[in-house]
Amino acid sequence: MHSTTPWWRSAVIYQVYIRSFADGNGDGVGDIAGLRSRLPYLEQLGVDALWINPWYKSPMADGGYDVADFREVDPLFGTVTDAEQLIAEAHRHGIRIIPDIVPNHTSDQHTWFQAALAAGPGSPERERYIFRPGRGPDGAEPPNDWVSCFGGPAWTRLPDGEWYLHLYAPEQPDLNWQHPDVHADFESILRFWFSRGVDGFRIDVAHGLVKDPELPDLPPLLDSADGPRHHIQHPHWDRDEVHAIYRTWRKVADEFEGDRCFVAEAWADTPERLAAYVRPGGLHTAFNFDFLMASWDAKDLRAVIDDSLAMLHAVGAPATWVLSNHDVMRHTSRYARKTVARWVPNERYQPEGNVDLELGTRRARAAALLMLALPGGAYLYQGDELGLPEVEDLPESVLQDPIWERSGHTDHGRDGCRVPLPWSGQSAPFGFSPENAPAEPWLPQPANWGERSVEAQTGDESSMLELYRTALRIRRENPALGDGTMTWLDAPSGVLSFRRDPGFVCVVNLSTEPYRLPDHTSILLASGPVTSGLLAPHQAAWLAA
Ligand code: BGC
Repeated sequence: MHSTTPWWRSAVIYQVYIRSFADGNGDGVGDIAGLRSRLPYLEQLGVDALWINPWYKSPMADGGYDVADFREVDPLFGTVTDAEQLIAEAHRHGIRIIPDIVPNHTSDQHTWFQAALAAGPGSPERERYIFRPGRGPDGAEPPNDWVSCFGGPAWTRLPDGEWYLHLYAPEQPDLNWQHPDVHADFESILRFWFSRGVDGFRIDVAHGLVKDPELPDLPPLLDSADGPRHHIQHPHWDRDEVHAIYRTWRKVADEFEGDRCFVAEAWADTPERLAAYVRPGGLHTAFNFDFLMASWDAKDLRAVIDDSLAMLHAVGAPATWVLSNHDVMRHTSRYARKTVARWVPNERYQPEGNVDLELGTRRARAAALLMLALPGGAYLYQGDELGLPEVEDLPESVLQDPIWERSGHTDHGRDGCRVPLPWSGQSAPFGFSPENAPAEPWLPQPANWGERSVEAQTGDESSMLELYRTALRIRRENPALGDGTMTWLDAPSGVLSFRRDPGFVCVVNLSTEPYRLPDHTSILLASGPVTSGLLAPHQAAWLAA
């Protein structure tokens, strides 16, 4: 076991997208009561911690990432007391709790923004956000050419003539991190939740807080598709000044007993830039999106693994690995395309080609064993363990992600990976809501999800769920896994083979030919049947060797 190093260096953290995990009060929306009722499931699955998407008071213009009050839980999800009970109960199950914190922006319903609107141009209240006059005659043009991540301009004009910045939806005004009130309030919010027992925070848009004070237009894009990756000095992403904020936050976390930790959602141009977030005295960990964006290709994956480990080890931080989350197409469906398209950095994934879910599932099973064997921690997104695919045919009338409207109905957005989980039974809501209150889930579930439910997969040794359960059990028991180092073993192109000491080998066959497993004393786990020592294409095995 990994008792000598802090837990977060090796942790398997399960992402709970709370709206879609389990509904405890029968309104068709997941909540804290539902999550509490499923803690035994999560303990049995074998995860170390939960990252929970925002549960704060919110008008839900962006699924809770538009926070009106960070010290309140939204009534849709429960109360602060419910959250405290969840934290205590999860701890009794040996599971840590990591909520999301959203420091880049608030809701437009936050008292600060409402005060800023009421106080008018030039007021001190407006200085907590980024208000500017427009350009051009009558100030009718936005102050610069920045664009919203959800589509359209990043500025909205008010009736009084001023514009305000929102890198996301207009309901999510960006905070001004040059303002001392913003620093002080977030430090106090961290303490509010740390003192209620949370074990850490996932920091939303950690790379976006600091803007170039001149607010210049965007720089020209460097085309680096096939060459070395460059860092572009950007006016609002990944600016060096952002690290000073996190050095202060680290000190706040260190005031509390136990190993409290941060994980940054930081999209950085290069592994070096990502590693800067997790230097000593800074944040503990950061998501490694290069792994998630890599195509199903041995060379690409090996390069990402090597670069990530080299850069993170250089600053003494553990790697983290993730395949899916609530913002991207589920990996079973990404891998279900015969050739997985290259992901254009800073753009949303555009799938190409026909969907072959059988292929996607084989690859997803192999990818799970790869990810869980790599040095460091790993993130699972709810439903990964059920092999859920993206729901790509949601009717347009039910779409709720702001991307759908903001893109002018050209991008269906992220609802397809947010469909409520199937727990049991053969018809919707598949046990998502209580049996005596089977409400319609907030997004419709596919009619055939009964076969993917927790109930249907439990005890079926060939299921994705049992694969994850076994993998997580072995990972907990095997001292070679989790934090540490790895050594590549010789293998033909298309095969990844590496050793973790003591005595563990992982082999992944991404080629189209069967591969003879290297010498071993036993097969600890395989993602599919191994016959005559041959690992079939799109399969992985864990060996004692
Ligand atoms: C979250 C998204 C959210 C955005 C704005 C992100 O990166 O993961 O779900 O829409 O931040 O808060």
